[in-house]
Amino acid sequence: NATTVSPAHSASTASTLITNIAALVTNDPSLGDGTPLGLIQDAAVVIEGDRIAWTGDQSKAPATDNRIDAGGRAVLPGFVDSHSHLVFAGDRTQEFNARMSGRPYSAGGIRTTVAATRAATDEELEANVTRYLAEALRQGTTTFETKSGYGLTTHDESRALRVAARHTDEVTYLGAHIVAPEFAEDPAAYVALVTGEMLDACAPHARWIDVFCEKGAFDGDQARAILTAGKARGLHPRIHANQLSYGPGVRLAVELDAASADHCTHLTDEDVDALANSRTVATLLPGAEFSTRAEWPDARRLLDAGVTVALSTDCNPGSSFTSSVPFCIALAVRDMGMTPDEAVWSATAGGAAALRRTDIGRVTPGAYADLTLLDAPSHVHLAYRPGVPLVSGVWRRGERVV
Ligand code: NIG
Ligand code: FE
Repeated sequence: NATTVSPAHSASTASTLITNIAALVTNDPSLGDGTPLGLIQDAAVVIEGDRIAWTGDQSKAPATDNRIDAGGRAVLPGFVDSHSHLVFAGDRTQEFNARMSGRPYSAGGIRTTVAATRAATDEELEANVTRYLAEALRQGTTTFETKSGYGLTTHDESRALRVAARHTDEVTYLGAHIVAPEFAEDPAAYVALVTGEMLDACAPHARWIDVFCEKGAFDGDQARAILTAGKARGLHPRIHANQLSYGPGVRLAVELDAASADHCTHLTDEDVDALANSRTVATLLPGAEFSTRAEWPDARRLLDAGVTVALSTDCNPGSSFTSSVPFCIALAVRDMGMTPDEAVWSATAGGAAALRRTDIGRVTPGAYADLTLLDAPSHVHLAYRPGVPLVSGVWRRGERVV
């Protein structure tokens, strides 16, 4: 752990200097080495209240109330996990086991979690979210988005969003995860519910609206109708797009100016061009390809085309039961053609872009003081030392929480 040279008191009033940082990722290209990471060697950071007050060369650091020695280790912005599904109950170990013996993944498994989630008490859902968030925080995640989508009734979807909203501002209404089992024979009636009574109950608790646009879930026309209805209620769109097959999801995301098209595993050249000429971020979720033994999304192709890429966990009990952004960084570097610098950028600044936020994902004056200290001299170790718990300190909104 970092050595506290003078005792830290309440973060809300005092200023704290973190010094002796071997490598600081700022994500401000005007700082340090001039790359997108804005890497500063022998750096220091000043935290004041919940914000970054100063970032720069440690020899120029201003005087502060408190001082923390980072011990020649690396500091980077807290991870921004812009895609997770944490409000659920139950477990799908059996399904995972079957998959590892060769059975393919399909959207149908979602029904298992819907049944368990509907049967759970509010306290059980709350306890689950708390537990997975604590896991994520220990691994350096300081901002996360999370979704409903395992309730699929007006009551259960709005309940999920209320639970989520107690933990984050980045709450997403995903009533259109799959057609609720009760509506299997009449999907149009389910779309009417999702865009009508369910939307009315859910919109006050969410910032975003999402649709699983996929064979076996919702087609392009249904997805457009659902997202357009959400937009009319002040929710901003994001889409589960092109995960299991080619389809209209990515182009629809661009058409509707969605903040993010998520998964992007099966892309045509047209899809890549559409993303490159938009401000829609491609959010890649390698935990899902890992846990479903699917082909990897081609991050290199997207980056070379000029697309903004985010990396997130997709944490959910079916397709990606990991809360670890460092694990996703390692996968993205090993298997998706990303450099360590690109993967770290995507898991911090990229996630912020996918949430259309400029106050997180960077270590620059005015941003929230969300920081991760690694027990390593460089952020590259996140990919170089896969599976090793390198996160040894976390500050969230200026407070040391790990
Ligand atoms: O992002 N693709 C849709 N939803 C989740 C999986 C949900 C599940 O299998 O429970 C995903 O991969
Ligand atoms: Fe997802």
